[in-house]
Amino acid sequence: MVKVLFVCLGNICRSPTAEGVFTQLVKQEKLSAEIKVDSAGTIAYHAGSPPDRRAQEAALKRAIDISHLRGRLVKREDFYEFDYILAMDTDNYETLHALCPADQKHKIRLFLDFAPQTNRHEVPDPYSGGAQGFELVLDLVEAASVGLLADICHQYALKH
Ligand code: 4NP
Repeated sequence: MVKVLFVCLGNICRSPTAEGVFTQLVKQEKLSAEIKVDSAGTIAYHAGSPPDRRAQEAALKRAIDISHLRGRLVKREDFYEFDYILAMDTDNYETLHALCPADQKHKIRLFLDFAPQTNRHEVPDPYSGGAQGFELVLDLVEAASVGLLADICHQYALKH
């Protein structure tokens, strides 16, 4: 089992969107038994909450239902359990690095490392902006999800 954890600040906008998009892709490729997907935030403020309504609506327009997801704080065991720990922006990346045991730090990456064609390094925080921010999140997350799945299949010799 390969385990992937998406991490943003609140775990109500970007990382649950990534969890929903990537889970759908994994299902489409019939790899649900091989790849486990989760998400978490670096702050606890929205722990237990469903994704932001705007994130839910934007995802649903692309036929992805994330309404069942609930926010949670990243925890120390995550660094041992997950194989890929993917930060949405450099703030999240630095927070994860500071929390992570030294021998697990190699697991932490920027999610957009898997979408070099976007020429971006960060999925911008859409929380304080308008609806178009959520569309951009989805566009970037969709692109990086394809690259991530290709990387996993290559690293773990999975067929898709
Ligand atoms: P996310 O967006 O990190 O993509 O879930 C945010 C959600 C909540 C807050 C900031 C960003 N907040 O400050 O409460």
